Amino acid sequence: MIALPTPSGSAGQIEALAPDLFRLRLERQGAPPSPASAAVIGWAEPPPETAAERIGGRECLATECGVFSWDRRGAWQLSDAQGFEVFSAGPGATGFSSEGAANLTLDLIEHEALFGLGEVTGTLDRRGSVREFWNIDVLGHAPAIHPALPSLYVSIPMALSLRHGRAAGLFWDNPGRQRWDLGATVPDRWSLKADTGPIDLYLFLGPTVEGVLQRYSQLTGTMPMPPEWALGYHQSRYSYETQAKVEAVAREFRRRDLPCDALYLDIHHMEGYRVFTVGADFPKLASMTRKLRKQGIRTVAIVDPGVKDDPAFPVFQRGLQRHAFVRNADAASDVVGEVWPGPSRFPDFLNPEVRAWWGDEQRTLLDQGIDGVWNDMNEPANFARPDKTLPPEALHQTDSGPQPHASVHNLYGQAMAQASREGLLRHRPEERPFVVTRAGYAGIQRQAIVWTGDTSSHWDHLRDAVPMLLNLSLSGVPFCGGDVGGFLGNVSPELFLRWLQFAAFTPFFRNHSNLGTRDQEPWAFGPELEGIARETLRLRYQLIPLLYSLSHRAATAGEPLMRPLLYHYTNDPVAVACNSQFLLGRDLLVAPVLEPGCPARSVYLPNEVWYDFWTGQRQVGGRSILAETPPDRIPVYVRAGGILPLTEARNSTQEPPSPTLTLHLWPGPEGEFHWYEDDGISRRHESGEVHTRLISLRRQGRTTRLHLGEAEGTFRSRVQNWRLVFWDMPPKARVRIDGILRKGATSDEAELLVIDLPNRSSAMEVTVVGGA
Ligand code: GLC
Repeated sequence: MIALPTPSGSAGQIEALAPDLFRLRLERQGAPPSPASAAVIGWAEPPPETAAERIGGRECLATECGVFSWDRRGAWQLSDAQGFEVFSAGPGATGFSSEGAANLTLDLIEHEALFGLGEVTGTLDRRGSVREFWNIDVLGHAPAIHPALPSLYVSIPMALSLRHGRAAGLFWDNPGRQRWDLGATVPDRWSLKADTGPIDLYLFLGPTVEGVLQRYSQLTGTMPMPPEWALGYHQSRYSYETQAKVEAVAREFRRRDLPCDALYLDIHHMEGYRVFTVGADFPKLASMTRKLRKQGIRTVAIVDPGVKDDPAFPVFQRGLQRHAFVRNADAASDVVGEVWPGPSRFPDFLNPEVRAWWGDEQRTLLDQGIDGVWNDMNEPANFARPDKTLPPEALHQTDSGPQPHASVHNLYGQAMAQASREGLLRHRPEERPFVVTRAGYAGIQRQAIVWTGDTSSHWDHLRDAVPMLLNLSLSGVPFCGGDVGGFLGNVSPELFLRWLQFAAFTPFFRNHSNLGTRDQEPWAFGPELEGIARETLRLRYQLIPLLYSLSHRAATAGEPLMRPLLYHYTNDPVAVACNSQFLLGRDLLVAPVLEPGCPARSVYLPNEVWYDFWTGQRQVGGRSILAETPPDRIPVYVRAGGILPLTEARNSTQEPPSPTLTLHLWPGPEGEFHWYEDDGISRRHESGEVHTRLISLRRQGRTTRLHLGEAEGTFRSRVQNWRLVFWDMPPKARVRIDGILRKGATSDEAELLVIDLPNRSSAMEVTVVGGA
């Protein structure tokens, strides 16, 4: 670490946390100490080797991957080992204004593109936009979510920059209000401003998108492994108002043979919107949750932060006794705001004791058999003020002492999700917690699934959902999703269908809609649409082994499930600019239908060979093709080299999976898949009860080789038999399994070669040499 010469009144330093990660910190002298970071987890890496030098009046700190240099006027650069500049700021562009705001202006170069920034609307590339990191309940500020909105529910001040195909990252850890102008006012300047707190920048050298994200998730944590049911189809609405209605919906799913893993209770399940209560319309909630569970359906309940200001309400009384609520600036009285229950107080989740108390209050729900918690309104929303949140001077009791709300605002929702998760862990220690949140900050992935709030049932919002989930995924939040069908307004049957088909490939797959809108269950649009919806849900359940294995990669390596094309094709400008397609894992390219009435859409295939997922038709990439979009499906392609596990469809992940797992294999120059299994629900995976194996696929000349690496871990695989389906194989191929010729296993005219292989944990190798 070296000290930097800064103008009087401030102090600065630079350190290298890893060869490709630098931290630049500037503080105003005499500023109150900032609270400990809620985003950054302990950094366990040994310090990298560094060289500190003064060269020509510049302070330089070098690692094997790059050099940071700072001159006397405060101009600085970060360059990689080849001398390529990834970030630079001019003289005096980094420091504090006389009012105490922290400022930083970075240079943008021609064709530089910027991604990430957490939850954002509009195009994937954020250059040219303004982002204000201040969590808001959007509907309190605008009639609907729209592309120019500078603030949304989640704030993640993390950006990924692409310069000539080279990726780098920047994260400013500051949960107060920040305003980033990403070349909107001055095209070649990225100016960042934080109203409060220090400049605390983490600079990631890359050079790959994957590398930046891996480091970022090492810094802020990865998502925990979700329970398997989190990957199923979830049905919600505001609200299924009675127990009878919820039971009827569950019955309807089963009667109609439609997959579903969870139903949601919105605010009507409570008594007068009092948190942790159950209203008279749910007379036997415990028996309801039991019944649902027998049908393979879990129950998730909404939990909002506002506690009704009602002296006769026990949760309120206990909160008062504990001094659990956020205080006014005088520290003598609580802030009283207004949310669904009317006058309400706000638990101070930044206080660890309050988090513990709140986590314990959740027991009421767990005792009724509730399986998961949905945290909403946790920006926090407060209808009582023009700014729709807590007063900036309200006081929180944080780990690091009292802090005004303004300097920790963006942490409120995250701290609530943490309280929820930790409470679930304490009270149901054998099971993986399930928490969904609307608000969050950097690191939210450790606590909860993020859903993108109150969208509208408009085609624009379906279109917007693609870059929105991709930028969230690039901001360290791999487990995300939006309301299928859109929240506000009545969805048209066609829009509903196209939304469902898109969301079937997104991590969190939940249908939700507003009070007073039309029914939005899969059967609500007539039998023809129901039939297509059923097939779409069945496909989702076939994909669960893929989604689950990818979730494990996200949980361990910080790799997002959903990826923009640029993630793997950073040097391809068409891929970089692509807003309307995405990759699920490495191998599946999804091109959702985002326009009404369109019989076909253009699909860009990056420069590899691709196969149509539905027909097997081979396509050479590096160009756009026109893909037909009949009502029953959206274009999906598999990369040559792709390995895709598909199981049999089920109506719930609680049903045992089929003992035969079909591995679809599209031979190409290289392919790899990290297979992962565990029991899907308990926490025994944390102590090694897992089953992992590396599967690789390679075609060289006339030989295709599939290798199933030796299995690791103590969990016994549920796969008894692998059905290997090789696509695009020449006729009369010769197959050897572990070197032994397998008679009769030849490819048919359809160019499919199907081989059944009993599973075992030692390595297995299949070679196919074709053709005649
Ligand atoms: C908020 C949520 C929405 C929920 C409603 C009622 O608008 O975003 O999902 O249904 O509140 O709880």
